[in-house]
Amino acid sequence: MSRPELQAPPEIYYGDAEAKKYTQNTRNQQIQRDMTYRALELLALPSDQPAFLLDIGCGSGLSGEILDEEGYVWAGVDIAPSMLEVALEREVEGDLFLQDIGQGFGFRPGSFDGAISISVLQWLLNAETSHPTSSPPHRLNRFFTTLHSALRNPSRVVLQFYPSSDDQIQLITSVAQKAGFGGGIVVDYPNSKKARKVFLCLLVGGGVGQQQVPQGLQGEEEEDSKARCERRREREKLRTKSGKRKSVKDKDWILKKKELYRKRGKEGVPNDSKYTGRKRRAVF
Ligand SMILES: C[S@@+](CC[C@H](N)C(=O)[O-])C[C@H]1O[C@@H](n2cnc3c(N)ncnc32)[C@H](O)[C@@H]1O
Repeated sequence: MSRPELQAPPEIYYGDAEAKKYTQNTRNQQIQRDMTYRALELLALPSDQPAFLLDIGCGSGLSGEILDEEGYVWAGVDIAPSMLEVALEREVEGDLFLQDIGQGFGFRPGSFDGAISISVLQWLLNAETSHPTSSPPHRLNRFFTTLHSALRNPSRVVLQFYPSSDDQIQLITSVAQKAGFGGGIVVDYPNSKKARKVFLCLLVGGGVGQQQVPQGLQGEEEEDSKARCERRREREKLRTKSGKRKSVKDKDWILKKKELYRKRGKEGVPNDSKYTGRKRRAVF
C-alpha cells in the first residue's frame, strides 16, 4: 500500500508499535467490541438477509472482526497504513482501503446496505488548519455527501464518536442533514461519566422525516451489558438453528465483490453473466 496525499493532521497517525499496542490491549478490544455490537443493534438490519457494510475508520479490524462474526460482508477504510497492516496480519475478511475519509469516498452510488464507524468521527473535527478546503466543515461536508451517495436507499449509518462539546454535535448533525441524511443523536447512559456513549444514527431515504431516532440506553450499564450478552447468545442460537444469515455468497454478494475488485484495478475479474452465483448441483 502506498501512502496517498493526505490533508489530515499528522497526530492521527498510529506508528507500527502503537497500532499493535492498541489492538492487543484487552480493554480496548472489549470496549470496541461492545460499541460495535451496539452500533449493529442501532443499525437494525434484518437478521435473515445478507448485507454489505462499510466500516469507516476500520483501524486494525477490532470492529470488523465483529462484522465477520455476525456474518456480514464488509469493506473498511482507514487513514493509517500501520493500522491496516495489523488488520491484514489478523486476516480479517473485509476488503481494506487506505483513505482519508475527510477527502470523501469514491464508491459507486448505492454500494452499501449500511455503514458503521467506531471512535473515528471526532478526528474530522480536530483538523486545525487555515486552508479553507481542509477546514472541519469542508471535510465533514465531503465525508457526508459522498457517504450518502455510497449508500443504498433506504439504509442507515451508525457512527459512535467522542464529541468534546455540544457545538461539535451541532456542527456534525447540521452538515449531515445538508448532505441529505435524516436521523439524529442517540446517547446511551447519559448520566454516567464512564459509560456515556454518543452515537449519530443517520437514515437514508425511506421517508427519513417519519422515521424515529432510536432510544438511548438508560439504567445500570453492567446489568444492561449482561442482558445484552444474553440476547446476543440467544440470537446466535436462533441463527444456527435456522441455518444462519442467508448465505452471504449469493449472487448479490458475488456481484458486489467483483465490482469492488474492478474498482481496485484488479486484473482478470470475470465478466458478469446469467450464470454468476448459479448454484451447481453436486457431482458424485
Ligand atoms: C480508535 S481507532 C478505531 C478503529 C476501529 N474502528 C476499532 O473499533 O478498533 C480510530 C481510527 O480512525 C482512523 N482515522 C482517523 N482519522 C481518519 C481519517 N481522516 N480517515 C480515515 N480514518 C481515520 C485512525 O487511523 C484509527 O484507525
